[in-house]
Amino acid sequence: MKTDTAPKQKQTPTRLADYTPPNFNIEAVSLDFDLNPKETTIRSQLTVTRLAPGPLVLDGEDITLKSVSLDGKTLKRSDYSLTQTQLILKDLPERSLIEIETVCNPSENSTLMGLYVSGGRFCTQCEAEGFRRITYYPDRPDVLSVFRVRLQADLKDYPYLLANGNMVESGALDGGQRHYAIWEDPFPKPAYLFALVAGEFDILEDSFTTMTGRDIPLTIYVDPGDASRAEYAMDSLKRSMKWDEEVFGREYDLDRFMIVAVRDFNFGAMENKGLNIFNSSLLLADAATATDMNFERIESVVAHEYFHNWTGNRITCRDWFQLCLKEGFTVFRDQEFSADQRDRAVQRIKDVKALRMRQFAEDAGPLSHPVRPSEYMKIDNFYTATIYEKGAELIRMLKTMLGEDDFRKGSDVYFERLDGTAATVEQFLESFEIATGRDLSQFMRWYEQAGTPELSVEVESPVNMPVSLTKITFTQKFSPASGQADKQPVIIPIRWQAIGDTGPITEPQLTLLKSKENAVSLPDMGEDFSLSILQDFSAPVILKTRQTSKDHLRLMGQDPNAFKRWEAGQTLARELIGTQAKAIESGQMPKVNKALRGYCQALGKTLDDVNFNSSFKALALTPPAATEIIQASETSDPIAVSLAGEWLSRAIGDTLHEDLLNLYHALSDEGTFSPDAHSAGRRALRNRCLSLLASRQDPVVAGLAIEQLGTATNMTDELAALMTLTKLGGKRVETSMTEFFEKWKNNPLVIDKWFSVQGMRKHDSGIEAIEALVNHSAYDPRNPNRVRSLIGSFAMANPHMFHAVDGSGYAFFTQQVLDMDSRNPQVAARLLGAYEVWRKLDAKRQGLIKAQLRHVIGAAPSKNVMEIANKTLGE
Ligand code: ARG
Ligand code: ZN
Repeated sequence: MKTDTAPKQKQTPTRLADYTPPNFNIEAVSLDFDLNPKETTIRSQLTVTRLAPGPLVLDGEDITLKSVSLDGKTLKRSDYSLTQTQLILKDLPERSLIEIETVCNPSENSTLMGLYVSGGRFCTQCEAEGFRRITYYPDRPDVLSVFRVRLQADLKDYPYLLANGNMVESGALDGGQRHYAIWEDPFPKPAYLFALVAGEFDILEDSFTTMTGRDIPLTIYVDPGDASRAEYAMDSLKRSMKWDEEVFGREYDLDRFMIVAVRDFNFGAMENKGLNIFNSSLLLADAATATDMNFERIESVVAHEYFHNWTGNRITCRDWFQLCLKEGFTVFRDQEFSADQRDRAVQRIKDVKALRMRQFAEDAGPLSHPVRPSEYMKIDNFYTATIYEKGAELIRMLKTMLGEDDFRKGSDVYFERLDGTAATVEQFLESFEIATGRDLSQFMRWYEQAGTPELSVEVESPVNMPVSLTKITFTQKFSPASGQADKQPVIIPIRWQAIGDTGPITEPQLTLLKSKENAVSLPDMGEDFSLSILQDFSAPVILKTRQTSKDHLRLMGQDPNAFKRWEAGQTLARELIGTQAKAIESGQMPKVNKALRGYCQALGKTLDDVNFNSSFKALALTPPAATEIIQASETSDPIAVSLAGEWLSRAIGDTLHEDLLNLYHALSDEGTFSPDAHSAGRRALRNRCLSLLASRQDPVVAGLAIEQLGTATNMTDELAALMTLTKLGGKRVETSMTEFFEKWKNNPLVIDKWFSVQGMRKHDSGIEAIEALVNHSAYDPRNPNRVRSLIGSFAMANPHMFHAVDGSGYAFFTQQVLDMDSRNPQVAARLLGAYEVWRKLDAKRQGLIKAQLRHVIGAAPSKNVMEIANKTLGE
């Protein structure tokens, strides 16, 4: 049907300040899908009741309208208005029944939003604004309704017909050729939580008995042959269900719970009510094909999506500006779950590492935005580390400030008061105020101000006033960046402790810094000490102190807080790499100094310390990534930074050579594989030893890697050996890569790993090698996992080639992003984020990247890519 206006994209942003509640409530929705890959017909019946004066605005995109009727009467074309993105009905009565018929083409839907086909199966992705690609509907999270869904499809190709909620009816059609199923979800939900799946699957079944004794069947649907690879996910699901009952008092509500794995997916996974849909890379795992990191991620993402059932589904977001309400809280919940299932200190270290790598980098660059943004062009671009990871840090601070018991009281009030509603961040905080009587108005600033605050600490040595006191002054500062000029002080919970040469000399303290500056005093302890500040990283801030390597070394050896012990080593390493990078930039030779020796010796002591587990030791042996160094300095040459990192690894490898080698042998394969934290920690430490040893280009180490590659009985060890070999370089790399490919060519998830190793390694033949991989028969530009494996890892983890000073890496990358944009704008925009670092690079590279960004803008890209390119360039 023809639309009223010309196809013009409006370039005005959506603003939080413009929020208005919907004019209509949808009492009930009934959807009927006649599923055919090339032409699917959707008949929708909406029972609508008026809430406020004005028209009924229904969103729609890339779908063909066949008919609209009002209370049984077919409307004429002049009775409604239709644009590229909306169907508008005016002058509706108080209550009416609207029936809409639309058609879409799932097999041609390369955006992977709405209804699409993956591996011959139908599936959907509706968050944030995908439902409008299925039918005309008020596609906004504050319109909640109960859905009844009827699916019909060919029986042979689509034996399973799934949707949200509980199945109420099913049967045969057309003499058995086709069949149907009817699903009802009794819980009112916004359209973004809608899902359907149809196809042939293998299934894994289990069940869970809830705290009130209800028996819930659990089913995971996977590609034929993959059922055993879903066992770890199923186990994680049951543990998540139990944990949410125990820690948050949350019980599951529907009669069944389903998870489906699909290979073509824009991101990780989706919490559709009762029917979670997962990227298969975050669901399928076994010893032979998945690494320990994969197992760990599966555990946390399965938990994350399950936890959304309460934080996201039962209580959803009023508008997309409130995204952190569900994502920040749910990430916090999954982090806590993992901490309880594994090792709390190790989990905290990993979470902080990820926060610094992704969120601090984002906040230091042109894409910086508040946890609750005030405007956006495309909401898809706001599924960011800031919303997710910083959002989780805010909840963590809230808990630190309130304490365990009051935090739980507040969350109980939240679930009690807001169940069944679409809520705001203000309402969330208000629940904690009601529960505890505290005033949290200042805390709201954390949600509204972009940027990472700096926390400085000054220590003044004792002066004899009446008594001898040490004065400790905490000061906070926001840099004025990201368009927000005057930022107000936030409330910063600071956990700290004074540490002497033989251990702590005070109890752990909690200071709440509420104003710009705050001083505390410490009675003279009569001995020299170092301050351990931000224990467990009690606030997401950048710490500035005058601490010297002596302080860091003392903390590395004596701090009772494992996080800070790790952190002290990281701080030392960051300084060493930073200094070395500057030296390399100015053409000097690497130097060995006292600080370096002290650092390596301290690492040696950590390795010998029986109080630390292997996971911790592996993390302690991993210096900070180049991204962290780049982000912390004014500007740098990224290749110099990465060479400096390699230099530090080599220094560790040299100094601790014997220890690392002994440990490598001592930690050899335990025999039967178990993905648990203890066994994974052993493998992590052993492979870390191998990697550090390999930084020396030693033939003995090459021998070890080759042997490990040939004898590994699990993917963790196999992949670690392969990566070590690629680092060592030489002819055997090509052979090993080819053999690995041949061995695994039938397993897409392993071939993704192969592509990412290819994307990360320094190819002797230069950028042509990466171009050749794009033309490899196994490369599929339509599959986001594959594209991210090769192009994503190239841009994020191959500094030598991506940042090549002739600009060849950038030019190649830009071309790939634009190519992706023609099919899938969401994934393309995400990839383009790799350029956010540009202002931190040297002048030459800044110029190169700016030219690339201008080229992108000139190529008339999608709205998604346009927003990222414009903001990144910032002109
Ligand atoms: N809600 C999903 C999650 O659990 C992610 C949805 C991402 N959507 C998007 N358009 N990027 O985190
Ligand atoms: Zn989520």
